[in-house]
Amino acid sequence: MRFDGKVAFITGGASGIGAATCTTFGGRGATVIVTDINDAGAKQTVAAIENAGGKAEAQHMDVTNRDEVVRVVQRVVEKQGKIDILVNIAGWDIVEPFIDSKPETWEKVLGINLRGPINVTHAVLKGMIERQSGVIISVSSDAGRNGSMGEAVYSGAKGGIIGFTKTIARETARFGIRVNCVCPGPTETPLLETVFQKMPKVRESILKAIPLRRFGQPQDPANAIAFMASDLASYITGQTLSVSGGLTMF
Ligand SMILES: NC(=O)c1ccc[n+]([C@@H]2O[C@H](COP(=O)([O-])OP(=O)(O)OC[C@H]3O[C@@H](n4cnc5c(N)ncnc54)[C@H](O)[C@@H]3O)[C@@H](O)[C@H]2O)c1
Repeated sequence: MRFDGKVAFITGGASGIGAATCTTFGGRGATVIVTDINDAGAKQTVAAIENAGGKAEAQHMDVTNRDEVVRVVQRVVEKQGKIDILVNIAGWDIVEPFIDSKPETWEKVLGINLRGPINVTHAVLKGMIERQSGVIISVSSDAGRNGSMGEAVYSGAKGGIIGFTKTIARETARFGIRVNCVCPGPTETPLLETVFQKMPKVRESILKAIPLRRFGQPQDPANAIAFMASDLASYITGQTLSVSGGLTMF
């Protein structure tokens, strides 16, 4: 799988699955636009790509700030000429029973996980339609397919992204654009670590339930995202692929 000559625009590229996805595209020839609110982390991802001989640049972008999203996308298109691949990865959650959760938390969870990908997809899509070509992958979650204790609003946001993806896939297939979701299962990243710190016993019980008997590593969903973005997946659109070691089987 090579992405030579392609521009890949990735949100949440400073950490975890986003950083692994950026280095995967960078190692396979793409010019990677690493966007995040964590500027230091984004710069580290860029350095990792450049040290391996790849091309990348960091852009500060908060996916919840629509004006900033539009500005950054315009700046990148002016400089790079196009965006071929959009990967929506930025995400956030806090685990707590829904009954104890606060509206401020719902707003934050929905803003980052649902409105964020909508903002970025809308800003990038016009150029893809004009060029009659493009690939969009959004990282959802098996929480959005199956529910997940303590993650009610997050599950709603991630389920929303799946419905959003299928509709955009239907609306844009005629323009040569493919749109898919990748749903990681429990993947060892800083986000999962915050969950396990709150509920240490959950770590062992989840591990026992995973048929492949290991947690995901950031590279696991990154590989699936690269496949979905590649020409090997040229007949795949509107789909949702779980990368969960068999924890979920849909
Ligand atoms: N780790 C898991 O087990 C798991 C499972 C299912 C789905 N996911 C999803 O995978 C994605 C990546 O998660 P991760 O585990 O790598 O987490 P992570 O915390 O390591 O990385 C998330 C990144 O998103 C960035 N981010 C947060 N808010 C942002 C905003 N408003 N604008 C731009 N960037 C923002 C963070 O700065 C961070 O760099 C998320 O969408 C998450 O919901 C993760």
